[in-house]
Amino acid sequence: MKLKINGIEHELDIDTRTSLLDACRDHLGFTGSKKGCDHGQCGACTMLVNGRRINSCLTLAVMHEGDEITTIEGIGQPDKLHPMQEAFLHHDGFQCGYCTPGQIVSAVGMLGEVKDNWPSHASDNVTGDANLSSDEIRERMSGNICRCSAYPNIVDAIESASA
Ligand code: FES
Repeated sequence: MKLKINGIEHELDIDTRTSLLDACRDHLGFTGSKKGCDHGQCGACTMLVNGRRINSCLTLAVMHEGDEITTIEGIGQPDKLHPMQEAFLHHDGFQCGYCTPGQIVSAVGMLGEVKDNWPSHASDNVTGDANLSSDEIRERMSGNICRCSAYPNIVDAIESASA
């Protein structure tokens, strides 16, 4: 099977029962997406498929041939962070950091859902103005759990990045 991840096509020879999360982490080395619950409850494994958020633990890799898959590794680069990553840094939107890749991918996808020209890659133009209240952000990000309870800072980061 072939999977296009962060703009590059990868060929894989794996069991068709392999989840997209396991395919990326265990077979392709994209370990940024985390496995928290493996049951669709925590959001640590969030990826974008054709720009939309999914729990990659709940879907089979084989179902995504031909799709554009984006992991946290495709959101920004160490020398050129995505504005959402900058905002998480600036607002201390994490504690242990385990949920952070999923939070950031989900936040980028969420803003893409409400604002079509939001950049999903660091190289895209930076625009905000999504006009989301903190309550809306909490509701739209409710699929991403943070066991450290860094929620106030996470919401602040997303609010500032989207303003
Ligand atoms: Fe996929 Fe928790 S690991 S939702």
